[in-house]
Amino acid sequence: MTAHEQIIDTTVAYVKKELEGAEGGHDWWHIYRVWQQARQIAARETANLLVVELGALLHDIADAKFHQGDENIGPAKAAAFLESIQVSPAITAHVVDIIRHISFKGGHQEKTFYSIELGIVQDADRLDAMGAVGIARTFNYGGFKHRAIYDPAIAPDLHMTKEAYKNSTAPTINHFYEKLLLLKDRMNTATGKALAQERHAFMELFLDRFYQEWKGEL
Ligand code: ADP
Ligand code: NI
Repeated sequence: MTAHEQIIDTTVAYVKKELEGAEGGHDWWHIYRVWQQARQIAARETANLLVVELGALLHDIADAKFHQGDENIGPAKAAAFLESIQVSPAITAHVVDIIRHISFKGGHQEKTFYSIELGIVQDADRLDAMGAVGIARTFNYGGFKHRAIYDPAIAPDLHMTKEAYKNSTAPTINHFYEKLLLLKDRMNTATGKALAQERHAFMELFLDRFYQEWKGEL
C-alpha cells in the first residue's frame, strides 16, 4: 500500500466512525458520493489528489448546523486528525481552508479563498445537492427539521442573509429556489458544469410534476 492509500484508508475509517448516526443527508454515504465524484472531476483537472480526497472526506466532519452553529469545530477536528496521522502541515492547512470555505450558506458571502482543489470538492458537494439524490437529501433534512413539505402561502426568499438562511423554518420546497436551483450557475469546473445541467433539468421536471399533482391535474 502506498503512503497516499494508507492516509486515505485511515481517514475513511475515521470519518465512518465519526458520522455514525448522522442525518441521512449528511452521513457517510454523502461523504462517499462526494469523494468518488471529486476523484472523477480531479481526473480531468490538474490538482493535488491527496488534498482533493482529504478535503472531500473531511468536509462535513462536524457541520456547524449540527453543532450549535460552531463553524470552527469542523476545521479544528480535521486539523487535529490530520496532525495525528502525520500529514504535512502544508497539506493540512490546505484541507482546512477547503473545509472552511466549501459551504453555500445563502450564497451571498465573499469568496476569501480559492484553489482548484476547493473548486473540485465544492462541485462534487454541490452535485450531491442536485438531481434525484439531492431531492432525497433535501426532503430527508426537511423531515429531520420537522418542516412542511410545501405551503403555497410561504414564498421562497432569495435574499436571505447567512443568519436567516441558517435559521430558516420554511417549507422544504422553498429550499429548491433558495439554493438547489441556483447551483448550476455556480459550478467551478467544466466537468462540474456539464454534470450539473442534467441534475438541474431533473429537479425542474420533479417540481413541475409536484405542482401538477398538488393541484390535482395529474
Ligand atoms: P451548505 O452548507 O452548502 O448550505 P448544507 O449542508 O446546508 O449545505 O446543505 C446540504 C444539503 O442539506 C442541501 O443540499 C439539502 O439537501 C439539505 N438542506 C440543507 N438545508 C436545508 C433546508 N433549509 N431545507 C431543506 N434541505 C436542506
Ligand atoms: Ni457536504
